[in-house]
Amino acid sequence: MSRRFLIAGNWKMNKTPSEGHELASGIGQFVKKDESVEVVVCPTYPALDRVSQAIEGTAVKLGAQNLYPKASGAYTGEISAEMLRAVFVKYVILGHSERREYFAESDDFINDKVKFSLENLLHPILCIGETLEQREAEQTLDVVKKQLLGGLEGVSKADLNNVVIAYEPVWAIGTGKTATPEMAQEVHAFIRKLLTEAYDDNASQKTRILYGGSMKPSNAADLLAQEDIDGGLIGGASLEVNSFCDLVDAARNAG
Ligand code: PGA
Repeated sequence: MSRRFLIAGNWKMNKTPSEGHELASGIGQFVKKDESVEVVVCPTYPALDRVSQAIEGTAVKLGAQNLYPKASGAYTGEISAEMLRAVFVKYVILGHSERREYFAESDDFINDKVKFSLENLLHPILCIGETLEQREAEQTLDVVKKQLLGGLEGVSKADLNNVVIAYEPVWAIGTGKTATPEMAQEVHAFIRKLLTEAYDDNASQKTRILYGGSMKPSNAADLLAQEDIDGGLIGGASLEVNSFCDLVDAARNAG
């Protein structure tokens, strides 16, 4: 089964609205209308609207970095799905390890957000991955299983179609240490096996599993050549037009 590669830029807490506009415009010029690779940029909330305008009419899609799983109301500091959709957001990153670590997000809370996103026609990018300590204690597969099944609890087979999984080993995020292609593939294949068990082979084969953690132009080709790696969730290398577009190019060539 051929899955369309997805390259998503996670800008984290970087770029003002005008800087975001400039970066997104540069990416928009590079991405073709009939692009073989799906390209998504995920700016901060204040930059969403400007970035949305910058990519209008291009094939680049917009993502957010989080949402709150309620329609509206007294939730100071939070953002609703409706607000995101109003500026044409299509994807939303959920369960990123930085949110799990710094904001104590649990699998249950992340699961609420996954379901809420799907009900509101947003595509979740569900992030899972082990810490260095967990890898060294040989708990990687257990952690990944718990986060994957916890995040997807109650998600139907039809809805799985609209979910993207991102495997991001925490020790590889922003550290310059990448999982070797073989290490990443082993976990990606495990995730696909879990999806087959929880759903079925067809649903599992259709689901895209991205790799994240110091992916950059110099290591992307080897990672993307792995059978179960269907793209990347990119932090550092998504903050410059050239490096991000080189990653889109690597995915084009891997396709
Ligand atoms: P990185 O971040 O590419 O800077 O390692 C990836 C991520 O956290 O999504």
